[in-house]
Amino acid sequence: MNSLKPIPNLKKLSTQLLEEDLTHEDSITIINEIHGYFNEITTISGYDMEFKHLAAVPTASGMALSLNHAAQCLLDYKRTIKFLKGLVSAIKDAQKEKPNQTIQIFYAGCGPYAPFITLVAPLFDISEVQFSLLEINKESLDYAKKLINELSLTKYIKGYYQADAVTFTIPDPNTFDILYSETLDALLFRESYVPILASMLPQLSPDITVIPTNVLLKVDVISNNTNDASSDTKTYTIFDTRQAIGSIETELPQGFTATDILFESNKSNDQIIIDTEVHIYENLRLTRGESSLTIPYEIPLENPTSHKKISFTYLLTPQVGLKYEFL
Ligand SMILES: C[S@@+](CC[C@H](N)C(=O)[O-])C[C@H]1O[C@@H](n2cnc3c(N)ncnc32)[C@H](O)[C@@H]1O
Repeated sequence: MNSLKPIPNLKKLSTQLLEEDLTHEDSITIINEIHGYFNEITTISGYDMEFKHLAAVPTASGMALSLNHAAQCLLDYKRTIKFLKGLVSAIKDAQKEKPNQTIQIFYAGCGPYAPFITLVAPLFDISEVQFSLLEINKESLDYAKKLINELSLTKYIKGYYQADAVTFTIPDPNTFDILYSETLDALLFRESYVPILASMLPQLSPDITVIPTNVLLKVDVISNNTNDASSDTKTYTIFDTRQAIGSIETELPQGFTATDILFESNKSNDQIIIDTEVHIYENLRLTRGESSLTIPYEIPLENPTSHKKISFTYLLTPQVGLKYEFL
């Protein structure tokens, strides 16, 4: 006897997730319900202890999240809702610009649930959107295919590719309208969003819509005033992905130009906090603490400091991530 739950009405659930007045509690209930269905269909919960589901996969530059961690991303509730809203708005905007044309989406890094086709495709007709899916982890891609088949979404798929997005040559690159790649971690640590964009953007049409559009790393330098309880905060952008990629001349560099923050000699710099600001699409953003992608990091600080400045560099080798040093 087949004990699988009936195929969920994903169109109804996704539509509910897009409602403006949805409470956080309701969004948790709906996403948990979707996760229950996806878990049952794929047999992947994101929480099993199989070693091969726990191991991160090396890419040409950076690491790809393990299959389990990629599945768990669905349950990063505010992230999932904001990215869903962003992608749906981007598709609708593309439709306005290109009426009667099928909008082509290149989805780099789909994970085992491929939520940004499985939750998005049911909102549109097959003539309106087509997806090309790429994933480095073979097992994740196999589960995504199984889920897409079971949900009867196969007709929305133009192609599946098991490959490293950092080195992949996109077929017919000018046919794509949207590049979707949430290959991120807080502080742009380890995951390949930056090298993926650096490799894919020059291949794609110059007016391609990218989701997330940009990711910035920002630093707050906070000085507490000892005379009263006030504090003074200065904010600096230390890394801007799109600007950094725009500065690449030919080959991927080992790292991007450093940004220095000078300490003011007459002030104590009591706290230095790094934030990851994810610009999803237009004014949709993930800000501090809203998601695992935007957890802030406080730099341990010797106070008063004998140093003149702190220097930040975003590296691509030997390890993708932000490096800082006191000078
Ligand atoms: C953060 S998870 C997101 C999964 C899913 N798209 C979601 O949003 O819930 C990123 C996915 O991208 C894949 N990935 C990371 N780097 C990649 C690369 N260089 N090439 C292809 N896939 C990659 C990982 O294996 C993982 O499945």
